[in-house]
Amino acid sequence: ERSYKLREPVLLVGDTGGGKTTICQLLSKYKELRLHILNCHQYTETSDFLGGFFPVRDRSKLVMEYENQIKQLKLSEALGQNIDLSADIGQAEVLIKSIGEILEKYKNDSVIGMAVTPQNIDVLEKIRNTMVMLYQKWRAIFVWQDGPLVEAMRAGNIFLADEISLADDSVLERLNSVLEPGRKLSLAEKGGPVLEEVVAHEKFFVIATMNPGGDYGKKELSPALRNRFTEIWVPPITETGELRSIAFSGLSTSKESNTIDPIINFWEWFNGLQTGRTLTVRDLLSWVSFINVMNESLGPAYAILHGAFLVLLDGLSLGTGLSGRDGKDLREKCFA
Ligand SMILES: Nc1ncnc2c1ncn2[C@@H]1O[C@H](COP(=O)(O)OP(=O)(O)OP(=O)(O)O)[C@@H](O)[C@H]1O
Ligand SMILES: [Mg+2]
Repeated sequence: ERSYKLREPVLLVGDTGGGKTTICQLLSKYKELRLHILNCHQYTETSDFLGGFFPVRDRSKLVMEYENQIKQLKLSEALGQNIDLSADIGQAEVLIKSIGEILEKYKNDSVIGMAVTPQNIDVLEKIRNTMVMLYQKWRAIFVWQDGPLVEAMRAGNIFLADEISLADDSVLERLNSVLEPGRKLSLAEKGGPVLEEVVAHEKFFVIATMNPGGDYGKKELSPALRNRFTEIWVPPITETGELRSIAFSGLSTSKESNTIDPIINFWEWFNGLQTGRTLTVRDLLSWVSFINVMNESLGPAYAILHGAFLVLLDGLSLGTGLSGRDGKDLREKCFA
């Protein structure tokens, strides 16, 4: 809460299933700010954060908008009768030029004998400018599109770099200036005659999450980057009362409530074994949803048992470093 008030960048560190991503989603809902999430991975590039040039896709929309402008032109009082108003955007150059000439004549006051008001001329000029803009967009092959970070900075939303430590340090270093108190970013990538500098909206807030280094396939974040975040440790939920209430809230009807205690008891027993595989809230919720669906047809005892195989026992020796035989022994112990 304090970090949010001061708009300090926050880094949530914790084991999988601890609710890091969820808390960001809840914050966005509670504060009614849009959440822009970027899931980082080994091949994440700066353009994934900042944006880049993409092929123009919605050409048909541009054509439609152009046709609308032509319809408005037909209603315009300021245009003479003998001008060809083709709705084909390919012909736009000629038409824009002729309108430009007409406007020029009005400015020099050389058109006499027509009942044209200054408002009519303003409207015509606006239509012409829109036509120029649409034609330029239509002719371009690539346009710049802001990435999620830049979008969030401009609009004053929340930006979440999920699993940030998986992205390459050289990519992440590009974020340094955003994480400092000035909260600025120079968009050199966009090109153009002036270097665009984006200054974050006052409501803009950055959150990042990561699993602790040392987890399977995970790496540490560079000290330079870690320094710029306020780091918050997200502990796994181990308190039995809390686990029980989460499990209850996942049940679809109270008919299944007798299944919760055996699950929680097994949970405590299994996590106490320190096997290298811990049961997470995500596992608990999958188990409970399985029971929701299968309780009716299997009965509570079998629903619990098959649920245990689903979330834990079938894949017990995967990713834990347990040998096949130890895995088999452990499975039998759990089954018993
Ligand atoms: N305290 C909680 N109460 C209720 N549900 C929770 C709680 N914590 C986590 N969950 C649920 O557990 C699941 C996993 O949470 P989440 O995806 O946020 O974890 P995470 O920390 O982002 O994990 P990872 O590191 O794997 O990305 C979600 O379905 C979430 O709703
Ligand atoms: Mg997550």
